[in-house]
Amino acid sequence: MIKLAPSMLAADFNRLGEQIRMIEEAGANYLHVDVMDGNFVPSISFGMPVIASIRKHTKLIFDVHLMVDEPIRYLEDFKQAGADIITVHAESCKHLNRTIARIKELGCKAGVALNPSTPLDVLNYVLNDLDMVLIMSVNPGFGGQKFIPNSLLKIQQLREMATKAGADIDIEVDGGINTNNVTEVLNAGANVIVAGTAVFNGNIEENIAEFKNKFNAYNA
Ligand code: DX5
Ligand code: ZN
Repeated sequence: MIKLAPSMLAADFNRLGEQIRMIEEAGANYLHVDVMDGNFVPSISFGMPVIASIRKHTKLIFDVHLMVDEPIRYLEDFKQAGADIITVHAESCKHLNRTIARIKELGCKAGVALNPSTPLDVLNYVLNDLDMVLIMSVNPGFGGQKFIPNSLLKIQQLREMATKAGADIDIEVDGGINTNNVTEVLNAGANVIVAGTAVFNGNIEENIAEFKNKFNAYNA
């Protein structure tokens, strides 16, 4: 199933509860939660208290993308705050295998994210332990950037690699996706689509309906 994961980073934080209700009612599948530490990436976003506060008001699956150095230090806190899926960057973990194992011990689904220049082979010995791989289609740190076209080849190669390994993983793609390029991303083999700007800029209901139309056309 193709899933839409609106990125909360692009929401109007003054009306956060209302906007999350809107995306839920409009049929979003996940809430993509971008956590930035000002270290692994240049910017700082938000952390556990914000996540815990919105957790009480929505049933959406919380897809927490940790752009944080050594995220193993905080996994339990994010689980406590309400994370359902925890994705860590391969580049940010000294011990990736151990970090993935911890996420699973906590009862969360585990994802690994790769920056645009990180090769797929860092996944060679962990792919079968994962629920999801997140291909970054921009350099992480900010919303509203332009999609990097080379990401399409990487998605295709990852889909082939997963099929060969017999790994039943979701492929999530994050950064610069809009209703003009989403079909290419689906064609390449992705099935979880993150969109910040393209969901929250303008009319949220209409934007989500447009994404859903593209998903339906792809499935048809
Ligand atoms: C970038 C974040 C993305 C970002 C996506 O570091 O991981 O999730 O918010 O935003 P758009 O869709 O605007 O590129
Ligand atoms: Zn993200």
